[in-house]
Amino acid sequence: MEQTVAVVGAAGHVGLGLSVCAADAGHHVFGIDIDESAVATVSAGKVPFVEDGAEEALHRVLSNGCLTMTTDNSVVARSDVVIVIMGTPIDENLNPVILPLLRLLATLKPHFRKGQLIILRSTVSPGTAETVRTTIENLTGLEVGRDLYLVFAPERVVQGKSLQEIPRLPQLVGAYEDASFLRAEEFFGTFIRNKCLQLTPVEAELGKLMCNMARYVTFAIANEFSLIAKEYDANVHRIFDACSFEYPRFNLPAPGPNVAGPCLFKDGFFLIERVPFPELVLTAFKINESMPMHIFKMIKSKPEIHKVVILGLTFKAGNDDTRYSLSFKLKKLLEAGGYEVSGFDPLLPDWNDRQALRGSECAVLMTPHAQFADLGSVMDWIAEERCWYIDLWGFWPEMRSRSQGGCFYAHDVEAVMGAREARGKAAA
Ligand SMILES: NC(=O)c1ccc[n+]([C@@H]2O[C@H](COP(=O)([O-])OP(=O)(O)OC[C@H]3O[C@@H](n4cnc5c(N)ncnc54)[C@H](O)[C@@H]3O)[C@@H](O)[C@H]2O)c1
Repeated sequence: MEQTVAVVGAAGHVGLGLSVCAADAGHHVFGIDIDESAVATVSAGKVPFVEDGAEEALHRVLSNGCLTMTTDNSVVARSDVVIVIMGTPIDENLNPVILPLLRLLATLKPHFRKGQLIILRSTVSPGTAETVRTTIENLTGLEVGRDLYLVFAPERVVQGKSLQEIPRLPQLVGAYEDASFLRAEEFFGTFIRNKCLQLTPVEAELGKLMCNMARYVTFAIANEFSLIAKEYDANVHRIFDACSFEYPRFNLPAPGPNVAGPCLFKDGFFLIERVPFPELVLTAFKINESMPMHIFKMIKSKPEIHKVVILGLTFKAGNDDTRYSLSFKLKKLLEAGGYEVSGFDPLLPDWNDRQALRGSECAVLMTPHAQFADLGSVMDWIAEERCWYIDLWGFWPEMRSRSQGGCFYAHDVEAVMGAREARGKAAA
């Protein structure tokens, strides 16, 4: 059944994909956001960030009238479903920031009404759904499960792939009682082709954080293994490739110097906020966040290097989001160390000047964008024979199993390519 849906935070990375999916299913969606310029951009049919396939779908739902973007909260009063997906950062003490969410609920107070389904979708620290429930009940005098319905239903898509993943992934639904779960299940069933899994709200809050932290800890062990391999002058990619070959019990991602971003960075602090034994998550944090320092030390060991370029400033390949990207941490370290540092990122208009690469004596691949896939082109852009390349990802296949701890010189590549060309000619 088509419903009127208000999405609060609709111009954001997660809110926009969800708004478009719900509108595409035939619901009338009011996309609410406090950011006036983002609302204007989306209303004009432009997606303000990289989101696969979103522009076409956005045009469709704007032109058929199923999505209306607005800054006006009063549309909540006309909505059957209210979804909250605003950002939930941590503060300078690494504690969750909850006040903006509570202020939002106070602003929405006059617009909440009987029969509404309220869906909290932001990633939150455990216990937040309970605070939301008591706040709404105190503000409105309405009771969850009797007068209105409330669930915590987290977003688990990978950033940039909302439109592909929202319909496909199972949905965790944390509900206080069956009535709220059933209302949410019916609504999600209109655009999610997978199951809704019923949990309590705190179980769903923990589940979302555990999904992200499981990835974060796995990345950390891959990074730790790569640092150990380096101590022995061993090539970690050769080890990983050999260990995982036709062996199902070795499932690690590639080590990477930029394991961060708006979710992985903060979600661990949500998860460990109240527990006395947070060692594993904190250790993972220390390992992942220290990768820029390892790179800095590697560069420091080469006194001939003065000019460094960082390849990729976003936290993730194929994405234009720079939030919590470790590229900037590396940049600061190098600048403080007296290096001449530049950055290049093909997805960021402020950082896509190829001149920045020219003459660099060291190039650090922080984000393996597809635009860097051709190592020969990157070397042409840099045009410096003495350049030392650092690729901890093992991204460039030519050097993946030949690099020394992820590092190689321009002339090492030329030697490999030359040998290959010679082999090709001999075969011909
Ligand atoms: N980015 C991801 O891939 C991802 C994935 C899963 C979950 N999450 C979670 O989803 C939530 C949103 O993340 P995001 O990356 O989309 O953040 P974002 O900053 O891109 O988007 C949040 C949006 O909310 C708007 N907003 C803030 N306060 C508001 C208010 N009072 N009223 C109306 N609009 C308001 C902002 O203007 C912004 O457009 C966070 O809790 C995040 O942890 C993010």
